[in-house]
Amino acid sequence: MHRGSLPVSHHRKARRLVPKLLDWYQAHARDLPWRHTEDPYAIWISEIMLQQTQVTTVIPYWKRWMRALPTVQKLARINPERVLKLWEGLGYYSRARNLQAAAQKIVTEHGGIFPEDPKIMRELPGIGRYTAGAISSIAFDQPEPIVDGNVVRILTRIFGIRKNPKNKKTQEELWSLAQTLVSASDNCGALNQSLMELGATVCHPRQPECENCPVIHNCVARREKTITLIPAKGKRIKYTEKEIKVFVIKHNGRLLMQKRPKGVINADFWELPNNETRPEITLPKRARLLASAKHNITSYRIKLNAYSMKSGPFKGRWFTFSDLRKFPVTAAHRKILKIVEPTLKRTIE
Ligand code: ADE
Repeated sequence: MHRGSLPVSHHRKARRLVPKLLDWYQAHARDLPWRHTEDPYAIWISEIMLQQTQVTTVIPYWKRWMRALPTVQKLARINPERVLKLWEGLGYYSRARNLQAAAQKIVTEHGGIFPEDPKIMRELPGIGRYTAGAISSIAFDQPEPIVDGNVVRILTRIFGIRKNPKNKKTQEELWSLAQTLVSASDNCGALNQSLMELGATVCHPRQPECENCPVIHNCVARREKTITLIPAKGKRIKYTEKEIKVFVIKHNGRLLMQKRPKGVINADFWELPNNETRPEITLPKRARLLASAKHNITSYRIKLNAYSMKSGPFKGRWFTFSDLRKFPVTAAHRKILKIVEPTLKRTIE
């Protein structure tokens, strides 16, 4: 087995952690709805939703999704706009699009049965090394490792690894430790989830609750008082500020909306006309500022300023506010709609 280039003693120590992690998980695991199922489809959906989103946000989305689309067949067949609607507000919509593309592949190439082999799983859109490890261990009790931000933090601290975890070689060392951990466990799903859980509830990036940690006596960073230095931080992200002008145009009781084109971020979502997709459009002098909202996505810090306009050279479709509730709208434009709805409703519905 590939062991990375860590000393054998690290792997020996990893094996000693396993019973402590499992006991702790059994006593302290949060009662989360996807922990009551062994259905790989349901677990897959939870793992994709949890990738960039917090547990408390995911719970209602996951429940709603499982009610609407309880099987891979249903997901494969449903109108893509309904998929976006179920995902609306979670962000990173390529996740939802990949889910449907993967469901279609499962139906056409795997007889509608979720593949058990992690290598085959990874051929599905949106399933990488982490997600394949999570589904394999949780749904199929296979000794497949997981490494995400939580696991990086736990392992670098416990083992006192001061190198930048983004560095390729260090990454491989962490995957190899995670492999040793899960291989030494007789409950692979519980072991991997104990790492996720410890990272989420105890071993916080700042001010970890070490007094509640089952492996406090095994933690090098704690012993050496280097918790604030580990994991080592890479370069800071440089944020780009951006202003987008949004145009609120009403006519005969309806609002003009446009659909974002294919191939751009948030493709197929509806939004108010704006100068992001139409940079040539300038504001008329008498345009009135109706609302402002902030929206952060990846490295962008976006300010949206919404102006009331009488008309404009836009192509789109006219919606009432109640129509809009049924269609997928980007999170940023939803914020603007929420602000302007009470005032506009009085005049347009
Ligand atoms: N984060 C990623 N996967 C998770 C899971 N199964 N439970 C809790 N948090 C998670």
